[in-house]
Amino acid sequence: MGQMSSYSGKIIPIPTQLKEQCYFNSSQYNELYRYSIENSEKFWAEQALQHLSWQRDFRSVVEADFYQARFKWFEGGKLNVCFNCVDRHLETRKDKIAIIWEGNEPGEVRKISYAELYSQVCQMAELFRSLGIKKGDRIALYMPMVPELVIAMLASARIGAVHSVIFAGFSANAVRERLLDLKAALFITADEGLRGKKIIPLKSIADEALKDLPFVRNVLVHKRTGKDVPMLKGRDLFMQSELLKVSAGKKSACEEMDSEDPFFILYTSGSTGHPKGLMHTSAGYLLYATMTHKYVFDYRESDIYFCAADIGWITGHSYVVYGPLSNGATSVMFESVPNYPDAGRYWDVIERHKVNIFYTAPTAIRAVAKEGPRLPEKYDLRSLKILGSVGEPINEDAWNWYYRVVGGERCAIVDTWWQTETGGIMITTLPGAGVMKASSAGLPFFGIKPTIVDDEGVELSGPTKGNLCISSAWPGQARTVYGDHERFKEVYFNSYPGRYFTGDAARRDKDGYYWVPGRVDDVLNVSGHRLGTAELESAAASSGVVAEAAVTTVEHDIKGQGIIVFCIKNENFSDLQSASQLVREVIRSKIGSFATPDKVYFVPGLPKTRSGKIMRRILKAIAAGKKEGFGDISTLADSSVIGQILEALNKEGSAAVQG
Ligand code: WT7
Repeated sequence: MGQMSSYSGKIIPIPTQLKEQCYFNSSQYNELYRYSIENSEKFWAEQALQHLSWQRDFRSVVEADFYQARFKWFEGGKLNVCFNCVDRHLETRKDKIAIIWEGNEPGEVRKISYAELYSQVCQMAELFRSLGIKKGDRIALYMPMVPELVIAMLASARIGAVHSVIFAGFSANAVRERLLDLKAALFITADEGLRGKKIIPLKSIADEALKDLPFVRNVLVHKRTGKDVPMLKGRDLFMQSELLKVSAGKKSACEEMDSEDPFFILYTSGSTGHPKGLMHTSAGYLLYATMTHKYVFDYRESDIYFCAADIGWITGHSYVVYGPLSNGATSVMFESVPNYPDAGRYWDVIERHKVNIFYTAPTAIRAVAKEGPRLPEKYDLRSLKILGSVGEPINEDAWNWYYRVVGGERCAIVDTWWQTETGGIMITTLPGAGVMKASSAGLPFFGIKPTIVDDEGVELSGPTKGNLCISSAWPGQARTVYGDHERFKEVYFNSYPGRYFTGDAARRDKDGYYWVPGRVDDVLNVSGHRLGTAELESAAASSGVVAEAAVTTVEHDIKGQGIIVFCIKNENFSDLQSASQLVREVIRSKIGSFATPDKVYFVPGLPKTRSGKIMRRILKAIAAGKKEGFGDISTLADSSVIGQILEALNKEGSAAVQG
C-alpha cells in the first residue's frame, strides 16, 4: 500500500466535529454500559419497548441457561419482523427510499420507496401463501444481490416462514447439503447472477442441487438476465409472471409471531463436520440488529447508508436488510464487486449516492488499496462520516489507507467484531465513545460482557490475553444449531461452562480495548469467508487421488489467509501434477470457488503425534517457507517426516499447483 504505518500503536482521537454530534460521548458510554450490565433486564426491556413495535407486550425479559444452552427473550411478546421493517414506516416515511439498488453495471440503479417495498412484499407474501407455504416452513434463497432477494426475505418474515439464504457463490453440492438439512419447501433462485465480468448459472447449479429432493415443492425463478433456462414442469415457476397473478394492492396480513419463533437459519463453518445451520429467532435478533445499526454507525434519519456485504452472509442480513430497514433507513444494496469495472467502483457508488456511512471488509479494502490513492482521489467522498470494518482484524496498512485516503482524516473508523452466531456487533470502536486504535476491535457494546479465560477456563482480569468468551446473555445470540441442539451446546457452551465460547483469541489492553487476532480453533478466514479445515479436507479426500489431506493457511496480501493443502497420494496415482489440479477442482466444486486452494502439495507423509493428531503448526511453518527451527517436536511420532516434506517441496515439479 506504500503508506507508512504512521498510526501504528497510536491512539487516534475521533475528529472533533464528528465526535460532538455522536449519540454517546465517552462518559455517556461508560454510564450506559454500566447500567446495561448492572440493570441488565431493565436495560433490555427499555430498549425493546423503544426500538420495536409490539403486537402484544412481553411478560418476561430473559431466561438464560448457559448449561443447557437455552435462551429465551421477551417471552409472551408478539410481533412481526416484516411489520417492523416495512409497515410501521408507512405513516412517516412512505416516500422515503428504503433501498437504493446499484446493479452490476455502474449507474444501473433502482430506487424503492417504503410504500413500494410494502406493496411488493405483500404481493410476494401472497404468492408464497398461494404456493401453500405456512408458518414454520423453510424457504431457501439462492439469489444474486437483487431487490427481489430482500423482498422475498421480508415476505418470508411476513408469513412466519423461516428463510435460509445460501450464498450465490456456493456450488451445487454445498447447496444440496444445506437443502437436505433444511428440508425447504420452497426454493428461490434466478436464471443467472452477475458479478463483475462473471456470469453465474444459478438455475443450472440449482437444478443439479435439487435432483430428487421431493420435499422442495416449488422453485421460483427470478429473471435477472433473461437467459433461457430449462424449467421443470410442475415444480418451476417464473417469479415475475406468478407475481402478476397475485392481485396487486391486495392486503397481506402479518403473521403474529412469538418473540422466540424461529426467524431464519444461516449456515456457517465450524472446526469439525458439516456446516451448521445457526438459528436466530424473531424479537431478540431484530432488537439487536436495530440497536447496533443505529448506535454503532451513529445512524441518523437523513443518512444514506451503504453496507457492501453480500446478503448470503450474516453481515448482509443484519446490516444490509434488518438493522437499516427496522430503523427506516435508506440502504444501498450492491450487486457487483469492488473491482468492476475498476477498483474505483465503491468510490463511484459513494459519490453518486452521497453515501454517509460505508461498511465493508478489510479484504475488500486491501484489494482496492493496492491500486493506490489515484482512484479514491478522483471521486468526491466528502459525504462520508463513518467507515465501518468487519470480518477480520483490520491490519494497520489497510486501516491507515481507509482513514486517510478514503476518509480524508475526517471520518471515524469503526471496527466491529462479531460472528454469525452473535447476530450483531459485539465489540466496536463506537464513534464518539472513545478513541480509535488502528487494528483494535474496541469496547463492548451495551449489555455485552466479554471475558478472557485461560485454557483451563480461569477468568483473567486486567490487561491480558487468552480465549474470548461472552459471559452475559444477549438478545441477538443464535438459539440453536438447526436440528442439532447437542452440537450447539457442545461447540459453544461446553468448553468453558457458564460462558459462550467464541472460538477466537483476544487480548485486552490497559484501556479495556479488545484486540482479536484470529481463531484458536480450526476455522479459517479467507477473504472474510469462513471455512472449516475439516470441510476442506473431506472435499480433498473425496477426489479419489488423495489418501489423506491436511489443510493449513499462509498469510495472503489481499485475502488475509490463503489455503494450502498437503496431500498424501492414493497408491494407484503417479501423475502428481494432474492430481493437484484435480484436488483444486474438487474443492472448488464441492464448496465454491472462494474456497479454491492457493497451493496443493503432494508429500510422502504428514507430521502426526503418537496419538495420530496432525500437527498443523508444523505444516503452517513449512507453508510459510520455514526450513528449520520447528520448536518442540518431541511429540511427533516420526520426526523424519519434516525432512521428507521439505525435500518433496524442494524437488522440481513437486506438483504444487498455484492458484
Ligand atoms: C469470525 C466470524 C460477523 C460478520 C462477518 C464474519 C472474525 C469478524 C472481526 C473483527 C477480528 C473478526 C472472527 C470471528 N472476525 N470480525 N472486526 N476483528 N476478527 O462472520 O463468518 O461468522 O466469522 O470472523 O474470527 O470469530 P463469520
